[in-house]
Amino acid sequence: MKTITSQIAQNKKVLLRIDLDVPLDDNNNVEDVTRLTSVLPTLNLLKDSASQIIIIGHLGRPEGQFNEKFSLKPVCQKLSELLSQPIEFIPYNLDPTPLNSSSHFVMLDNMRFNPGEETNDSNLAKQLASLADIFVFDAFAVSHRAAASTVGVTDLIPSYAGLRVAEEVKQLSEILENPSHPLLVIVGGAKIETKLPVITNLQTKADSIFVGGKLPHEIKEKNISFPPNIQVATMNASGKDIDENAKEIVKGLISNAKMIVWNGPVGLFEDPLNQDGTLVIAENLALSNAKKIIGGGETIQASTKFGIIDNIDFVSVGGGAMLEFLSGKQLPGLKNI
Ligand code: 3PG
Repeated sequence: MKTITSQIAQNKKVLLRIDLDVPLDDNNNVEDVTRLTSVLPTLNLLKDSASQIIIIGHLGRPEGQFNEKFSLKPVCQKLSELLSQPIEFIPYNLDPTPLNSSSHFVMLDNMRFNPGEETNDSNLAKQLASLADIFVFDAFAVSHRAAASTVGVTDLIPSYAGLRVAEEVKQLSEILENPSHPLLVIVGGAKIETKLPVITNLQTKADSIFVGGKLPHEIKEKNISFPPNIQVATMNASGKDIDENAKEIVKGLISNAKMIVWNGPVGLFEDPLNQDGTLVIAENLALSNAKKIIGGGETIQASTKFGIIDNIDFVSVGGGAMLEFLSGKQLPGLKNI
């Protein structure tokens, strides 16, 4: 992986792809800045070296059509505040060329307004590539999607990993290649089809895998069986949280572990009646001296709600991307950088 440096970026026009897909409240305020603060080191490096930084990203799933609701304007404002630098916002244009702006920082509106983005259209990739001398990819959370702004441009201009992407790859590779033992993996949430590849890839690397959330129901329904180091939680009477026995099991596993990876809450943590399983995990993680890595929007929300987010060694910005990385797949966005 070639990581961007100030020397490489010196006096260059840089096209920078970052994760701008952040939750907004009803008044269009950014609710969680984790993804935005994660790219500040790259933005600061480029601020002092590049001649112009053209920021691109996406928000939500507008499906190839302009829709004001998915405009990046409020995200641009927030990023500008966090960076303490003006960022000129460029309203959506089907053809973004030429870019009539000489501002140091500019941001184009949502890439996914363009129907060519998610189909990795070569014309859109060419237009984007023509805006800059080099491309920097610092959007780990979208590295599992082959789009014009994640992969297409990398075939056309010299492309580099941003500092955040390099850190994500380093931290997540350690789990796969050089974990501390005992390694405990906690997997929750729903959609067993997205979690099975991770469980399969980690079942020989991890000492134990604890599975909760909606997954135990799905595992039962589909009649899936696992080797003994994979513990599928038993659920409480409502079926929306793990039961007392499962809480004791996960507590024991956490206190033994030297490395813990957590993706997905194990119960309906938004509901005070069904938050206890996720709370037990959070409280015990806070007490543990193991190296702790978490990821996924809901896991970050739960860790924030239960006040332990500052106690985590590494918070991945990737949800689906983290899962795909841990399942051992080659992620398209990381292929050419
Ligand atoms: C995410 O939030 O995980 C990324 O932005 C990818 O979003 P997507 O699932 O809509 O491709």
